[in-house]
Amino acid sequence: MKLFKSHLYQMSTYEPPLEGRSVKKHVLLDFNERTLRVDPEIEKALTKFIKSGALQKYPSYGDIVPRVAAYAGVPDSNLMITNGSDQGIDLVIRAVCSSGDEAIIPAPSFAIYRQFAEVENVTVIEPLYTQEGGFPTSDVIGLIGSKTRLVVIPNPNNPSGTAVPREDIEQILQAAPNAAVLIDECYFEYLGETVADLCDTYPNLLVARTFSKTWGLASLRLGFLISSSENINQLLKIRGPYDVNQLAVVAVEAALENPQYTKDYIKEVMKKSKPALEKWCRGRNIDFWPSQANFLWTFPPHASELAEYLQDQNILVRPKKDASGRMGLRINLGSVEQTEKLIIALNSFYH
Ligand SMILES: Cc1ncc(COP(=O)(O)O)c(C=O)c1O
Repeated sequence: MKLFKSHLYQMSTYEPPLEGRSVKKHVLLDFNERTLRVDPEIEKALTKFIKSGALQKYPSYGDIVPRVAAYAGVPDSNLMITNGSDQGIDLVIRAVCSSGDEAIIPAPSFAIYRQFAEVENVTVIEPLYTQEGGFPTSDVIGLIGSKTRLVVIPNPNNPSGTAVPREDIEQILQAAPNAAVLIDECYFEYLGETVADLCDTYPNLLVARTFSKTWGLASLRLGFLISSSENINQLLKIRGPYDVNQLAVVAVEAALENPQYTKDYIKEVMKKSKPALEKWCRGRNIDFWPSQANFLWTFPPHASELAEYLQDQNILVRPKKDASGRMGLRINLGSVEQTEKLIIALNSFYH
C-alpha cells in the first residue's frame, strides 16, 4: 500500500549541498548569500530578544507588515510575510495549481519551482533561456494554453543572472490572464527593478521577495509576497499563523533601521567585485552569461577540477551544467578582499 499520493514516489528530494560549509573556514561563494557578517545591530537585537525571556511565547508580528510594506513601497494590504521566499513560492503554487495543470518554468532556473510544482502533480514545461537572447519571452507566450495555471519569471534568474525587461513581463501578464504569473525578485536589491507597483493593475501578478540574500538573513527565513489585497487575503488562509518565527522578525526590524549597511554591501559587490571577476574572465577568454545579479555563471576550462582546487583553497563555488551539458561554475561575489583572494586562486590554478 502506498500511503502518499502516488506521484510523490516518482520524485526525489531537493538536497542542496549544504554540509560542511563553514563561515570560519570558507569563503562561501556557492549559495549566492551575503558573504560578510550582518550588521552588529541585528546581532544585538537578536541577543536582547533571546535574553528577554520570551522564547516560550508564540510569535507576535507587531508592525512588521507595515514596515516591510513601507520598504517595498506598497500598501500594507498588498503584502504578507512568509517563511523565506521558498514558502511564498510554495503558497502560490499550492493555491493556484491542481493535478494535471501546466506550469511554464523557463530553464535552467532555481530548482524549487519545479519541486513544488511536481508536488502538486503539475506538468512542468521548460522553454530554454539562451546566453544571447536571455529570457525566452516569445516561447513562453507561445506555450500559454488553456491548461496553463502558472508562469514563473525569476528576475533576475538563478543561475544565469538574466534580467527580464518590464515590457516582457507585462506582455506575459496580458497573454496569461487565467494563470498566476509569479515574479521571483529574490535578488531584487542587486537588480534594482521591480514590478511590485503593477499588482493592482494585473490581478494575476504575484511577486516573491526575501531578506535572505542582500540582507544576509538566510538562516532566519523571512520572505514576503506582494500582490493585490484580494490575492493576499486568499493566500493568508494557507499560511500557518506562526510560520514566520519571532527571531526573523526581530532581525528584519533591526535590519530595516539601517538600510545603508546593506546598500554599502550591494555597491561593493556590484560596482567592484563583480566587474573584477568579469574583467578576469574576459582577460582569459572565459565565457560567462551576462548577469544582473550578484553572481556569474562562468564556463572555465576544466571547471570540475577548478571547483575542487578552489575548495582546497577554502573557496566554495557551485558547479552547474548548462542545457547542452557543458559544466560551468556559478560564482557568487562578495567583498573586494574576498574577490581578490578568489582571483589569486584562479590565477594559480591556470598559472
Ligand atoms: C531565485 C531564487 N528564489 C528564491 C530563493 C529562496 O530564497 P529564500 O531563502 O528566501 O527562501 C533562492 C535561493 O537560492 C533563489 O535563488
